[in-house]
Amino acid sequence: MKVALASDHAGFLLKEYIKKYLTEKEIMYHDFGTCDETPVDYPDLAYKAARSVQKGDYEKGIIICGTGIGVAITANKLKGIRAALCCDTFSARCARAHNDANILTLGARVIDRDTALEIVDVFLNTAFEGGRHHRRIEKIRKYECKVTND
Ligand code: RB5
Repeated sequence: MKVALASDHAGFLLKEYIKKYLTEKEIMYHDFGTCDETPVDYPDLAYKAARSVQKGDYEKGIIICGTGIGVAITANKLKGIRAALCCDTFSARCARAHNDANILTLGARVIDRDTALEIVDVFLNTAFEGGRHHRRIEKIRKYECKVTND
């Protein structure tokens, strides 16, 4: 599995922490930035990572800002992206099993580091259940706006 990572300045330290975890687990990733705590605009970083998932370069994405909200809003503008803001492992499990979410967003100012790692672990290791959920994802696709995102 290859994971696209990104954060703004508020999520930078949590992103670095998650990178250590991914390295330990031998999970490949690419870091789309940001590279320090200098203030940046979260839509620019969220777009880069979400676009790479949309293109199929990366199977999943993890994008972090202060609340996880701004990056989720941004990522969900891209057709085919299902970004889920998760603050607990139950939501992370459902985001994968029921919603086939391809991007996890996290709020670095909302949850602690250990909770974040538990959420990442569940998100990356839970499969989509399909079945009735497949029909619902197809309906999301149907309702998606038809404009391209380039
Ligand atoms: C940055 O201060 C903050 O607004 C951002 O990280 C995020 O929380 C936006 O949704």
